[in-house]
Order: sequence, then C-alpha cells, then structure tokens
Amino acid sequence: MQPQKIIIDTDPGQDDAVAILLALASPEEIEVLGLTCVAGNVPLDLTSKNARIVCELAGKTNVKVFAGCDRPMGRDLVTAEHVHGKTGLDGPNLPDPTMPLIPGHAVDFIIDTIRDHAPGVITLCPLGPLTNIATAFEKAPDIVKRVKKIVLMGGGYFEGGNITPTAEFNIYVDPQAADIVFKSGVPIVVMPLDVTHKALVTKPRNDAFRALSTRVGTAVAQMTDFFERFDKEKYGSEGAPLHDPCVTAYLINPDLFTGRHINVEIETQSELTMGMTVADWWRVTDRTPNATFMGDIDADGFFALLTERLARL
Ligand code: RIB
Ligand code: CA
Repeated sequence: MQPQKIIIDTDPGQDDAVAILLALASPEEIEVLGLTCVAGNVPLDLTSKNARIVCELAGKTNVKVFAGCDRPMGRDLVTAEHVHGKTGLDGPNLPDPTMPLIPGHAVDFIIDTIRDHAPGVITLCPLGPLTNIATAFEKAPDIVKRVKKIVLMGGGYFEGGNITPTAEFNIYVDPQAADIVFKSGVPIVVMPLDVTHKALVTKPRNDAFRALSTRVGTAVAQMTDFFERFDKEKYGSEGAPLHDPCVTAYLINPDLFTGRHINVEIETQSELTMGMTVADWWRVTDRTPNATFMGDIDADGFFALLTERLARL
C-alpha cells in the first residue's frame, strides 16, 4: 500500500510532538507533506517554533513547516500554558530550531497542496483548533471535495469537556471553525476525549520510552512526565493522556480503535456550552451522520506501536 499523503495541522504541545514523531517514524504508512501550525496550546510564534524543534529532534529537517492563523475565526485566542507550560513544550530541554519556517501562509499551503494532487489523495490531520482548515475551506471552496478525509483530535461525549464542563480544548478555542469543518461533507474521523483519556502514559509506559535510551525516547518521557500534571490533578489519571498521537496511530493501524458513524454538531451560540460536540451516539435524532466518532482504543496495542516506532528515530 502506498503511504498516505498527509498534512498535519498542529499546535505543539507535548502530545502534538509525540503525534508528529510517530508520523515521521512511519514512512511505510505516512508521507508527511508538511506541518501547518496554528495558535492553540500556546501562541503561533511558539507553536511554529515547537513544530521545528520536534522535526529537528526527529532528525527530519527537510519537513516543510508553515505558520498559519494566529487567532480563531471569531473569538479571542484561549491558550493552555497551564497544561503545556510557558513554552508549550516544557519537560525536555531541547535546543532552539535552526531550520527555517517556509515562507508563505499555512492556509495557502493547504489549498495549493490539495489543488496540486488528484482528488481523494490528501488526508488532513488537525491536532489543534480547526482555524487553518476552516479558513482554507472558506478561501477555496473547490478544495473541500478534493480532500480524502480528515482525521482529527477533538471533542468529547461521555467524557464531557476538559476546558469547560462541556467542551474539549481544540473545539472550544474555535467553535466557528469546527462548525465549518463538521458541516463540510468531508469524511471525518474523530478522536475525542472518550478515547484519548484511555491512552494514558502510565509509569511502565513512560519507563518504556525512557528505556529506549535515545534522545527521542528520553525527550518523550520528559514531555509526558511534565504534561501529566494537569490530568493527574484534575482527573486523578494514572498518567498523561496522549490525545494527538491517537490520530497518527489511526493512520497506521485503524483497528486499534472502535467507534460509530454518527451525527456530530458543534455548539456555536450558547456561552454555557460553547464548543460542545453534540454527538448523537445513541442515534436519538434523525440528523445525518457526518463523522466516525471513536469510543474505544486498544491502549496496550497503541503503546506497543508507539514505542516500537519511536525506537526508530
Ligand atoms: O484537548 C486536548 C487537545 O488540546 C490536544 O490536541 C492538545 O494538544 C490541545 O491542543
Ligand atoms: Ca494539539
């Protein structure tokens, strides 16, 4: 099978970093055409710096990295330094990047790349707020039908929210963008908190990263050591939830996940539930299904795959 041609849209973030590393370590299944950075966990100048730090950590300095939107489509930016630290990549002490950003806007890279490939070739993998994706769809409606699929991390149903009682961070930051994407008609696979909260970096799993005795293994162990504080304190979790790597793992082995094809709509009006993914998991409405919403993960299989692939870098 030919590797899947993907664009990773990202707001690194330690978990984004692990998702990017897993993708870069898996050339048989994934060809990363570029990283498009968006404001989210931390402001754009830091997410676009962190994306390059991760590429250099992986020894993949030929990856194209673009800066994209620095704020949501219609709301003030909300960031998550309380989770990811001031730099967005707290934990390991990694050197500043030397590889440059590619000139040009990330949204134009998304548009041009989709136009330059046959319909049904490009997969979009958003790991942060959906601002870049939605802006590209609004600016160039012709590309929407050309997208093969979107595999994103965002939302929650049984788990509720992690930034408000009802909203997950990526969707909450830019609900207008999420609404555009979920109504676009592009096939969507959703990795919600319902799944990512089952992908916890327990101590044995963190020890396995460290036992790789490589720069990447040690850095990932340090990232998840830092990143787990928020969830341990809030949820009493046994470790950091690896939200974004679920997207990459799905591309490599979709059988690690189970879910349902259901209707998912985004709350964009009520401040009380702003950014909620209203998932019709029990199919109690006649709304048309528009997303494959994942509900479960083979966590041991996920971590075995992740650790084996990280060992390659
Ligand atoms: O809610 C978790 C998501 O928000 C993850 O993608 C994390 O990196 C942040 O972007
Ligand atoms: Ca992210």
